[in-house]
Amino acid sequence: MNETIRKRKSIRKYSKTPLDEETLAKVREKLETLTPLFPEIRYTVTIADKTKGLFTQGSGASSYLVFRSENKDGAYENIGFIGQQMDLWFSENGLGSYWLGMAKPSEDGDLSYVISMVFGNPEEPLHRSLTDFKRKPLSEISDGNDSRLEAARLAPSGINAQGWYFSALNGKIRCYRKKPGFIASEKLGQIDMGIALWHIASETEKFRFTKESGVPERKGFIYTGTVG
Ligand SMILES: Cc1cc2nc3c(=O)[nH]c(=O)nc-3n(C[C@H](O)[C@H](O)[C@H](O)COP(=O)(O)O)c2cc1C
Repeated sequence: MNETIRKRKSIRKYSKTPLDEETLAKVREKLETLTPLFPEIRYTVTIADKTKGLFTQGSGASSYLVFRSENKDGAYENIGFIGQQMDLWFSENGLGSYWLGMAKPSEDGDLSYVISMVFGNPEEPLHRSLTDFKRKPLSEISDGNDSRLEAARLAPSGINAQGWYFSALNGKIRCYRKKPGFIASEKLGQIDMGIALWHIASETEKFRFTKESGVPERKGFIYTGTVG
């Protein structure tokens, strides 16, 4: 399995020193190479700096990615999929990051604001061992056998809700997400699904995600699509 998936974690302690231009240039370069889940949905990712007063809540870090998207079905899954590529890239390249759902930019952009991601120089260990992940066992979030399920299980999710369910059969994985409840919103659940899908995609040679018809229903869950 992708090494970074097995050791990444949300970093919440950052050096106050802003990132240098060279590092920011590499981040911008990486942003040009991302693979969308749904290529037809327009999105933007910009780099913001909290000293401009963009956010209602800070974290001590000096840099943020701001994700915006066209309002279309699949937009939040698409942003989760795209953003998780950055989260793993940061972790692979010596930078800390975490998804920040509880923040809003004060400036409007062309597209609708979706979510942000903090990033910067970590002031705590960047990686952890597998035993330090707080995750549900595979048996609670999936059935069937597929080596990619473990990568999905390790995915981060808003408030660590892990509200996904994966049903694996004959090389396909049917993906369901929990119906939104009091705490876990629909939006977070959709972003979380996109994030887990990127983890699955990084373990898949030819990744395809489609909606099947006649998929068995799962009580309390919404079918999102099938990795085939
Ligand atoms: C969509 C999303 C939104 C999140 N929003 C916040 C947030 O607003 N504040 C925060 O401290 N962590 C936030 N997180 C980080 C999660 O709490 C964290 O990923 C989860 O607890 C699992 O921990 P790990 O990332 O270290 O594996 C968010 C994560 C996701 C995926």
